Amino acid sequence: MKFLKGAKTSSYKTLFLIFSLLFVLSGFDICHGQDDDATPPPPMPELDNCDGIFVTYTLTGREKEYPHVKNMSKQAWAFKAEASLMNVGDEELKDWKMYIGFQHREILVSAEGAVPVDSDDFPAEVGNGTTIAGNPMTDLKTAIETAGDYNQMAVRVKMSGTQFGLGAGATPLPKTIKLMNDGFKCPQPSRKGSRMFVCCKKDPKVKAKLKKKTKFLPRRYGDLTIEYDVLQAFQTSYYAQVTMDNNHPLGRLDHWNLTWEWQKGEFINALKGAYARIKDPSECLYGPAGRYYGDLDFSTVANCQKKPIISDLPSERAEDEKVGKVPWCCRNGTVLPPIMDKNKARSTFQLQVFKMPPDDNRTALTPPIKWHIDGVINPKYTCGPPIRVDATEFPDPSGLKAISTAVASWQIVCNITKPKPRENRCCVSFSAFYNESAIPCNTCACGGCDDTRKCNPNASPLLLPPDALLVPFENRTLKARAWAKLKHMRVPSKLPCGDHCPVSINWHVSSDHKEGWTARITLFNWENYGFDDWFAAEKLTELVLRIQGCQVNNNL
Ligand SMILES: *[C@@H]1O[C@H](CO)[C@@H](O)[C@H](O)[C@H]1NC(C)=O
Ligand SMILES: *[C@@H]1O[C@H](CO)[C@@H](O)[C@H](O)[C@H]1NC(C)=O
Ligand SMILES: *[C@@H]1O[C@H](CO)[C@@H](O)[C@H](O)[C@H]1NC(C)=O
Ligand SMILES: *[C@@H]1O[C@H](CO)[C@@H](O)[C@H](O)[C@H]1NC(C)=O
Ligand SMILES: *[C@@H]1O[C@H](CO)[C@@H](O)[C@H](O)[C@H]1NC(C)=O
Ligand SMILES: *[C@@H]1O[C@H](CO)[C@@H](O)[C@H](O)[C@H]1NC(C)=O
Ligand SMILES: *[C@@H]1O[C@H](CO)[C@@H](O)[C@H](O)[C@H]1NC(C)=O
Ligand SMILES: *[C@@H]1O[C@H](CO)[C@@H](O)[C@H](O)[C@H]1NC(C)=O
Repeated sequence: MKFLKGAKTSSYKTLFLIFSLLFVLSGFDICHGQDDDATPPPPMPELDNCDGIFVTYTLTGREKEYPHVKNMSKQAWAFKAEASLMNVGDEELKDWKMYIGFQHREILVSAEGAVPVDSDDFPAEVGNGTTIAGNPMTDLKTAIETAGDYNQMAVRVKMSGTQFGLGAGATPLPKTIKLMNDGFKCPQPSRKGSRMFVCCKKDPKVKAKLKKKTKFLPRRYGDLTIEYDVLQAFQTSYYAQVTMDNNHPLGRLDHWNLTWEWQKGEFINALKGAYARIKDPSECLYGPAGRYYGDLDFSTVANCQKKPIISDLPSERAEDEKVGKVPWCCRNGTVLPPIMDKNKARSTFQLQVFKMPPDDNRTALTPPIKWHIDGVINPKYTCGPPIRVDATEFPDPSGLKAISTAVASWQIVCNITKPKPRENRCCVSFSAFYNESAIPCNTCACGGCDDTRKCNPNASPLLLPPDALLVPFENRTLKARAWAKLKHMRVPSKLPCGDHCPVSINWHVSSDHKEGWTARITLFNWENYGFDDWFAAEKLTELVLRIQGCQVNNNL
């Protein structure tokens, strides 16, 4: 829909008239079952006084969900809402990001036109607020450069989810909404009925800092950053390189699995430096890809899934002509912190992607979304959406002092997030020379393990004889019982759950003198796979540590 108008303010008024008419009409249009995306939002007279980005949130519906419960504060409600952003300023907004300060234990189930920035995928628990970013429409152009084309200036995000509490008549709105892009300032939003809105303006103070203009957004810092660089583009396929950089001093990955979701029906024809866990050509063969690529031998295709699982190659494949020979590849999924080994803080692999129509055009490139990386004992990483950044520069393969740039580059920023209790993968137990019992890891300290292996975190811990730390979890109960009998200690009727941590660490205070004390750290690997180049970190308070004769049996 295009509106060509002269004077700015009066044109908006005319627009609103048309918009409101359309809106009212569309309200009666439901019987046709049409969900017309071109329908503009309800008229907003407040737009007249805004010369930045106009952000709104509207609750459009709310319905009681099963189970129906008596306690109102525990009742779940399905809600539908719509967020919108409109660029009514004079500068294009790149990669919009909007914060919604949810406050009723919301669980976001879908958001059409946006992806969550601070969680991997829907459904996402957003009760403490969440940030969403545009997908596929990431940029908001100005009315000036589009002759008032609403479809390029504004975006609407239809959301659905679940929220808890409040009675039938309530209209629960978020605490606040704002634009999260750098250089913008948003005042407190106003509220009218079931609608919230705010006009976010350019912060004049930040303007100077943003002067250094790049074509796309600058790269960001994160605990783990991933680059998706398209190196060569053809009409129906392209070659891309994925580079993961670990920037956190304690973050590490072992046996990583990387997953993402293709947006446009793409599939991976070939992989170098990594492999796909599932190689099932039937998913392509019987789908649209099979029809479009009629002559392709799908038995050699690397992966046909919408959400592939990709893993690093073992080191013995590093020199393999067919799948190896990629710098920084093939370490069996180990990525170390840069302070441990700079050369092992990066992992790369390359892939050949086959595209599907209507993207059979060299420049129609769409990166996959919903990136997720996980390994065996690493912290939990949460990755944001891919953000288009300036093309990565590589040294020229010819060896001359030239640089070659990628065709297009996207960056995905992943940060370490705190795991939920009992999702820990590493536990620490304490023991000391002056006490005959060891205090087990927190996770296994919790008593009251019922048949379903659910822990009651409030139950008191079961003390263990120190040697019980040396046997696998399932064998500890026997030792603990025998020991309790010997020491005349009470054994709780429900015994604690084993923590089944892949790695546990014991801190043993072995002596304590006037001049200082000594401690011994023992690390146990309970898994049947190795951890290369292990390290441990400890936070010490109020003491000077003198590590003396470190005796380490390094075969974790
Ligand atoms: C309802 O549930 C809330 C939170 O779970 C609780 O604090 C409150 O006491 C409950 N009210 C009644 C009447 O049971
Ligand atoms: C919200 O924050 C509170 C307090 O920091 C925390 O206990 C709770 O788990 C958080 N909820 C979600 C869904 O992150
Ligand atoms: C690579 O990791 C796998 C488990 O993911 C393990 O079975 C294998 O022995 C490892 N190979 C090397 C060379 O470390
Ligand atoms: C290819 O796609 C791009 C982006 O979708 C578009 O701007 C361009 O006009 C297309 N080119 C051709 C030849 O279709
Ligand atoms: C990686 O994915 C494979 C295949 O789904 C799975 O068997 C394996 O346990 C995963 N590894 C990790 C560390 O999650
Ligand atoms: C990750 O952390 C950095 C710095 O702490 C922050 O600037 C960035 O926005 C975070 N990214 C995500 C996706 O949470
Ligand atoms: C040993 O430690 C446990 C747990 O902290 C405590 O209950 C017990 O009294 C201690 N025993 C001695 C002899 O200090
Ligand atoms: C642990 O228990 C299993 C059987 O449950 C037994 O086969 C194994 O030998 C035990 N290991 C130790 C170290 O006691």
